[in-house]
Amino acid sequence: MKIVTVEAPVNIAVIKYWGKRDEELILPINDSLSATLSTDFMCAKTTILASPLLKEDVFWLNGKQQSLDNPRLQNCLKEIKRRTNLESPILNWNISICSINNFPTAAGLASSAAGYAGLVAALAALYNIEGDITGVARVGSGSACRSLYGGWVQWNKGITSTGEDSIAHQIAPLSHWPEMKVLILVVNDERKKYSSTSGMKKSVETSELLPFRANTVVPKRIEAIKEAILKKDFETFAEITMKDSNSFHAICLDTLPPCVYMNDVSHAIVDVVHQYNAIKNSHKVAYTFDAGPNACLFLLESEVDEFLSVINYVFQPPTDLKTLEYIRGIKTEPKIIKD
Ligand code: ADP
Ligand code: DP6
Ligand code: CO
Repeated sequence: MKIVTVEAPVNIAVIKYWGKRDEELILPINDSLSATLSTDFMCAKTTILASPLLKEDVFWLNGKQQSLDNPRLQNCLKEIKRRTNLESPILNWNISICSINNFPTAAGLASSAAGYAGLVAALAALYNIEGDITGVARVGSGSACRSLYGGWVQWNKGITSTGEDSIAHQIAPLSHWPEMKVLILVVNDERKKYSSTSGMKKSVETSELLPFRANTVVPKRIEAIKEAILKKDFETFAEITMKDSNSFHAICLDTLPPCVYMNDVSHAIVDVVHQYNAIKNSHKVAYTFDAGPNACLFLLESEVDEFLSVINYVFQPPTDLKTLEYIRGIKTEPKIIKD
């Protein structure tokens, strides 16, 4: 018998991935770039047990048994096993996968990223796989490939049709910009109406703005935001981050039927950020929203207390915001906590 437990972090994209050129291999139409958050606050904790005594493979997520008849899960298992050169009998043992997210699942807070990064990191430890595994996490959920590194991470879309160059790499470690903090404001923790997978598929099929964003806008933004991160230029970083979130949600609205992920409270948060920045005469806080209403805010440590007091004054938890979570750090790769 062998057991591995992994804690995997979520990541928040500042340049969003939205749209695939290959649905099966999960190959994106544009590069994306993200910050990996601390597992201290939000993580998927995944334990995999392999044993000759197990009669069949089983998968539990958040305490509920799931079907293993999930092509993405199967693709990850297939790809991981293809990469092992072990002759070990463990490869033929059945496995039990048990994963728990300590934050809302499928609510636009990157649970698929933490979930598949944790699954693949645990499988790799179980079968002693070495080398890049971001391409394996990618076939589970695109955004998951970025959660395998800490700090600032870029996912190259790649140009091949087979996807071997569609992998993630770290552009700067967390220690490069330790003053950078992230606040997550949970507006609604319910499951979103349309998954990221179905939303982006519809966008590729129906949005005429999407090719412009993917081919013309994003490549320039990737270069510019990388430079801003490397120079620790918060003003430029913030401007690009907010613009990219807005352009991603514009694509969602240009989709037919539209994918409406942000709600009135999300828009009120956008207003508060812009008003705060106007008073300060510079971008001190940057918002970004994934495929859901919840806000991810980037700001420097020196700004956290003052900005939080504004948020607590304007919004009355739990009426406006179901919960407020303050993520005070970005760090770590998936951690193997038991092996
Ligand atoms: P999110 O915005 O939270 O990433 P998605 O729609 O992209 O939402 O993905 C949600 C799906 O990701 C879930 O329905 C489930 O299939 C998968 N998922 C979430 N958490 C885990 C986990 N810990 N382990 C494995 N799969 C997970
Ligand atoms: C808006 O990675 O969840 O969060 O690859 O179909 O599983 P699949 O989609 P997913 O999409 C994430 C979209 C996003 C932007 C981002 O994380 O880059
Ligand atoms: Co997701």
